[in-house]
Amino acid sequence: MSASIPQDVFSAEWLALREELDARSRSHRLTGLAVDWLDKRSAGAPYGIVDLGCGSGSNLGFLASRLPGPQRWRLVDHDAQLLVHARRRGALLRDRAGSRVALETHCRSLSPMDRELLADADLVVASALFDLMSRSWVESLVAACAGHGQALLLTLSVDGDWAFLDRHGARVEESEDIAVRTLFQTHQHRDKGLGPALGGEGPAVLASILLAAGFWVESDATPWHLTAGDATQRGLAEALVTGWHDAAIEETPTQAARLGAWRDRRLADIDAGELGVTVGHRDLFAWPAERG
Ligand SMILES: C[S@@+](CC[C@H](N)C(=O)[O-])C[C@H]1O[C@@H](n2cnc3c(N)ncnc32)[C@H](O)[C@@H]1O
Repeated sequence: MSASIPQDVFSAEWLALREELDARSRSHRLTGLAVDWLDKRSAGAPYGIVDLGCGSGSNLGFLASRLPGPQRWRLVDHDAQLLVHARRRGALLRDRAGSRVALETHCRSLSPMDRELLADADLVVASALFDLMSRSWVESLVAACAGHGQALLLTLSVDGDWAFLDRHGARVEESEDIAVRTLFQTHQHRDKGLGPALGGEGPAVLASILLAAGFWVESDATPWHLTAGDATQRGLAEALVTGWHDAAIEETPTQAARLGAWRDRRLADIDAGELGVTVGHRDLFAWPAERG
């Protein structure tokens, strides 16, 4: 999730907490399609890659060594502190052939969509972003990429699903969990500054807008699985439950006592190693049809 934690400001600590799980969950098949796409482009000039909402650079960290070079990254985010982390990380990274990657950072809002920001890119990437964005912003992004003949690798977009898992990995669905999830899904649609947010509809809306614009689209489910009893994942699981609880309370403040009891029970279940968590995500790779 970008917004399984319902906030508009993302701390470096929170992004670090999720980074390993993100890397484990991502679709290697779709990364491979992005590699093929770049390999087919003319060699020589550096490949231009734009990372929208780059945060502290975990998308860059995952992709740089897997993609061909030379690479020239443009990292865009409105959080100056996160861009400092991203720059530090980028300075250490190498491409698939072992050469350093070039990068520039842009501290600015993604809205309105600025076509110039994308102009000389081969590949546009974004990770854990689309639940925050609006339909009209996605339409502008896709129109710009279609105009420039660019491919898009859009990873780890939440699909609105989450559930607890028992020790065998089976879903646990009590009525109170379902009620909180429904409140959370409603909360995800709150405006983050660009109009009503897509929330868990992000992956479906992305795919339909890309297909309508003539892109080929491939997509894989990339859920997080936090295993019951795994102490290394407990902090993230607890942060998720707290975030779902806080969002639910914002939707129904009068239910604070009931929701507080739900949170405390589920945190205790996680702490006792009885429950894990799954959070639904999807990765998507899209490329202009005429380049097939
Ligand atoms: C959930 S974080 C994901 C960060 C990174 N892509 C990752 O996978 O770790 C979402 C990022 O989008 C950025 N962001 C959200 N809305 C934005 C906007 N309107 N303009 C620029 N950046 C934005 C946030 O600052 C944050 O770094």
